[in-house]
Amino acid sequence: MTARFPDLRLRRTRSTGWSRALYRETVVTPADLIWPLFVTEGQGVEEPIGSLPGVSRWSVDGMVARAKEAVALGIPCLALFPNTQAERRSEDGAEALNPDNLMCRAIRAIRDACGDDIGILTDVALDPYTSHGQDGLIDQAGYVLNDATVEVLVGQALNQAAAGADVIAPSDMMDGRIAAIRAALEAAGHVNVQIMSYAAKYASAFYGPFRDAVGSSGLLKGNKKTYQMDPANAEEALREVAMDLAEGADSVMVKPGLPYLDIVRSVKQRFEVPVFAYQVSGEYAMIEAAVAAGAADRDALVLETLTAFKRAGCSGVLTYHAAHAARLLHG
Ligand code: PBG
Repeated sequence: MTARFPDLRLRRTRSTGWSRALYRETVVTPADLIWPLFVTEGQGVEEPIGSLPGVSRWSVDGMVARAKEAVALGIPCLALFPNTQAERRSEDGAEALNPDNLMCRAIRAIRDACGDDIGILTDVALDPYTSHGQDGLIDQAGYVLNDATVEVLVGQALNQAAAGADVIAPSDMMDGRIAAIRAALEAAGHVNVQIMSYAAKYASAFYGPFRDAVGSSGLLKGNKKTYQMDPANAEEALREVAMDLAEGADSVMVKPGLPYLDIVRSVKQRFEVPVFAYQVSGEYAMIEAAVAAGAADRDALVLETLTAFKRAGCSGVLTYHAAHAARLLHG
C-alpha cells in the first residue's frame, strides 16, 4: 500500500450504510447455523435448564416442533443430545446401543416429520449414558480406556445412522475412532452419512451448563483431561485435525468457540477443509448473564460473535442462539 493520509482515509468507506454494506467482507446467514437441542422423555414436556436461561429440554414431540421451526427459519441442521433417564444409565453406557433409545426415537420422529428438509447431527460419546459421566469406558482407577471405548462408539454411531442420522459427530476424543466409525459406516452401507469430527476439543470450563442439560454434571467424578485437550496447546490441535482428516472426517470442529478462534484460523489455513466451531453452553450462559446484568445488548452480541466465527474461517457454528439469530437475520 503506497497511499498515505490524506489521500488514504480508511473512514471514507465506512461513512454511509450502503458503503459499509458494499465493503463488508463477512456475511452470516441462517444457513451457517447448527442448532443444538436437548431431548427428554415424555409427551408435551418442556423442561427449562436453569444454567442455560432460554434453553429447554423437549420431549420428542417438542423436538419435532423445533425441527419444523428450524426448517421455516432456514437453519440447515440440528445437533441432538439426550437427557437419559437415571435408571437407564450404567457403568458401560449400554443404552447408547439401544435402537429404541431416546436419541433414536427423536431422530426417527424428526425424519418422519421433516424428511430431508433438515440435517440431523448426532453426538457420539458415552457421557449421556454412563453412570459416571465420562465419555467412555473406565477401568478400576477411573481411567477412560481408549480402544475398548472406540468399539462401543462404533456401535453407537451405527445405531444412530440406522435410525437416520445424517452427520455423526464424535465428541469423545478417543484416538482412532474416526477410522473405526468410517469403516463401519461403509461396511453397513451408510456411504453418505457424514462424519464431523470434534477434532480439537479442549478440556474446558465452559461446558458446565451442558452437563446440567444432559444430566451428567452431578455424576461426573474428576475431569476429562486425559482425553480432551489442554487449553494451552495449539500445535497439538493441528495434529488432532490431521489425524481425523486422514481417518476420513468430512469436516472438523473446534470447541469451545470464541476463546479458540486462533485454532479455527490455523486449522483453516493449514488444511483448507470445512471447519465448524461450537459456541458452547458456557459461552451462551456468559452472553445471557451479561444481558441480564444490563451490560450488553443480546442481539448485537449474538450477531457480532457469529460474524467473528465466520471471519475466523468457520463454515458454520453450533450455537444455542441459532433460532434467535436466524430470526434476527431474516429481519
Ligand atoms: C459430550 C459433549 C460435551 C459437549 C458436547 N458434547 C460436554 C463434555 O465434553 O463434557 C459440550 C457442549 C456445550 O458445553 O455446549 N462429549
